[in-house]
Amino acid sequence: MEVFLTGATGLVGGEVLVNLSKRTEIEKIYCLIRAVSLDSAKDRLNKIFSLHGDEFDQRKVIPVLGDLFDEKLTAQLICDEQLAGITTIIHSAANTSFAKVKDDLVEKANIGGLTKILLWAKRLQSLDTFMYVGTATICGRDVKHRLVTEEETPNLKANHLVKYTYTKMQGELLLKQHLPENKILVVRPSIIMGDSRNVEPRSPVILWALATMNKLRLVPAEQYSSLDMVPVDFVANVMTQLLFVKRSYNVYHISAGNDACTSALQIANVFDNYFDDMLPHRFIGKGMLNSLKLWAKGKLPVGHELYQHYEYLEHLQYEFEDLSNLRILFAGLDPYIEFAELGQRFDNSRIVKDLGITPSQPGHVYIHNCLHYIERINLLEGAIDP
Ligand SMILES: NC(=O)c1ccc[n+]([C@@H]2O[C@H](COP(=O)([O-])OP(=O)(O)OC[C@H]3O[C@@H](n4cnc5c(N)ncnc54)[C@H](OP(=O)(O)O)[C@@H]3O)[C@@H](O)[C@H]2O)c1
Repeated sequence: MEVFLTGATGLVGGEVLVNLSKRTEIEKIYCLIRAVSLDSAKDRLNKIFSLHGDEFDQRKVIPVLGDLFDEKLTAQLICDEQLAGITTIIHSAANTSFAKVKDDLVEKANIGGLTKILLWAKRLQSLDTFMYVGTATICGRDVKHRLVTEEETPNLKANHLVKYTYTKMQGELLLKQHLPENKILVVRPSIIMGDSRNVEPRSPVILWALATMNKLRLVPAEQYSSLDMVPVDFVANVMTQLLFVKRSYNVYHISAGNDACTSALQIANVFDNYFDDMLPHRFIGKGMLNSLKLWAKGKLPVGHELYQHYEYLEHLQYEFEDLSNLRILFAGLDPYIEFAELGQRFDNSRIVKDLGITPSQPGHVYIHNCLHYIERINLLEGAIDP
């Protein structure tokens, strides 16, 4: 088996790469890497393996310099003779930003970039499987507080909270345009948060939202909504296993499902026990987000109900001397809160059936392995590029 992997330097791709490198059935893994030279691409790969002390076998893992934004990418891949025998493509690269200012880049990477990979893939004689890493959240904002199955999407009528999920849905449609059904494998993780092992997570992406909630303590969100979150090691294991089993479907959620969902309250309880010298979390509902923003601007009218939480406001004043930083955090947090409020759970019975695996542990059970790391996340950096 010869694999071509995009997004290897990311949260999911990095974990998948390490997993695949340990599989003896795989002879070569070519990784599309953005870098100025092959040496710096190798350095990037080396970092992926060294993070958790894994071996970087340079005979097996080979960098291919390339950028999804490069107009010549398809031609470059077609001309690259070492790629002629690729049997499996795993497309994990994407721009995952929720920020409106990044919409154009998100579209360019997730639709334009994917198209370039597909135009090459469809010419590959040896291709068996194109695994596309989608997202379960393509179901859109109108699906609330229920279990979502794979068949329900892609739904062209879905209303999307952010451009990112729209582009991921369009990605699935593009796949069908370019490849025969039997070569398509779509995996749709839910929210990937941290790692269930006691190791440094590969990236603060999404975990940032929990780190921010932990710092704020006064949370403008609903506490009981279901949160379908899974750790990255679980996602990577499922993706790897799916390549080696007889599959009954070509679309799979990789999710916590009905039994292993968590909630903001359950996560907050874990934080309260661990960081026990801080005020306990208090949930004040999403409606208070604008009031908090006004307060941080110094424009909240006297007598507003938010002032009832004065000890929390004092805490925020102390933690964020410069309240404009707090406003930046709120802006970054906004889409995460919207997603969390939807209470979507994603059915995972397909992976349970085909892989015979035990679903992942609920977030409030495994998250304690990430707590020491949460403290080190740079909140402002994450807020500026959510
Ligand atoms: N994280 C989640 O909660 C989540 C949930 C559901 C689905 N997903 C899906 O899972 C996949 C991986 O996400 P992730 O969390 O691993 O994202 P990530 O950590 O942000 O990694 C993104 C990867 O894509 C690469 N990339 C971005 N733009 C590129 C470009 N123009 N050319 C080449 N490579 C480019 C990045 O390379 P550089 O290092 O060079 O930037 C990086 O390797 C995505 O398809 C995402 O939609 C993620």
